[in-house]
Amino acid sequence: MIGKPSRLASNVGALGSILVAAAGASAEGRAPTPNIFTPVSTPAFAIRELAMFVLGITGVIFLVVGGLSVYVLVRFRRRRSDDNQEPPQIYGSRQIEMAWTLVPLLIVAVLFLITARYIYGIEGRQLPPNAVQVTVIGHQWWWEIRYPELGIVTANELHVPVSDPAHPAPTFLTIQSADVAHSFWIPQLAGKMDAIPNKTNRLWIEPLQLGTYVGQCAEYCGIQHAGMLLTAVVHSRGDFAQWVAAQQAPARNDGDAQRGRALFVSLACSSCHTVQGTPANGVFGPDLTHLMSRSTLGAGVIPNSRENLRRWLDSPTSLKQGVLMPAMKLSPDELNDMTAYLSTLR
Ligand code: CUA
Repeated sequence: MIGKPSRLASNVGALGSILVAAAGASAEGRAPTPNIFTPVSTPAFAIRELAMFVLGITGVIFLVVGGLSVYVLVRFRRRRSDDNQEPPQIYGSRQIEMAWTLVPLLIVAVLFLITARYIYGIEGRQLPPNAVQVTVIGHQWWWEIRYPELGIVTANELHVPVSDPAHPAPTFLTIQSADVAHSFWIPQLAGKMDAIPNKTNRLWIEPLQLGTYVGQCAEYCGIQHAGMLLTAVVHSRGDFAQWVAAQQAPARNDGDAQRGRALFVSLACSSCHTVQGTPANGVFGPDLTHLMSRSTLGAGVIPNSRENLRRWLDSPTSLKQGVLMPAMKLSPDELNDMTAYLSTLR
């Protein structure tokens, strides 16, 4: 069905996935934007400050260089009265050479020192004992999100509490990779942090505003680099506690979905996916214990609905080319049973 991917097609696909994630998020009000100039979280405020400062300096350089260029182009343009002789050639001017060596050097030194100050300011933050701990693991092409202290494993959607001066509630993120280099980036919450195999990086966020914030992988990691989107949902403290309780609840075991459940645990599904409370304990793919609590399938590729779930089970690659989940070659009846079972996993 899907032929050779053209660059246009993959660009359109990437745009489509961002729109899907955005549509899911905008259901809650404000339209989400991955804009570093609209921060809502402590390290992101600092990054905007620094970005504005750098923009200011580079803006002045642009005006000076651009202005001088335009002036020279106009002032010394070719004229009718020109005699076509080569103008006098002037060699060297110590003052000018010194100026255009020292001034840029000074500017770079200032940019370097200010940037270093911001980096140390952000990275030197002490970890408060009550901070939420999250481990984010980049996979080709989805994000595993674990809350080791809360016993929660989910995917692609980070849920955190809001912070306010009376109740600071920062979240500390441990960033890892299961395969190749990825980069975790939700611009309104914090700067990029690479997810590197066999290396652990750390990042913290402290969102001060409720809402849904979008981001994506920021390091090329293969054909679906654009198809591993991130969503962060910032909850009030009460809502966060509710979300935690719902995620900690055991997987549902509905009586009328038993055929699908039996199929799921007997097929290869169970060697890649975990559903708590069943023999399915694979860790290669996303944990499905509360699959239907997530708003998208395939890490932001399509909205998570029963109908899309069936399409996904039938042929994952036709929705997300290159995805590592194979088509299970289910009969229409089996597809119905499997969809019925998985849609109970709220
Ligand atoms: Cu993961 Cu790009």
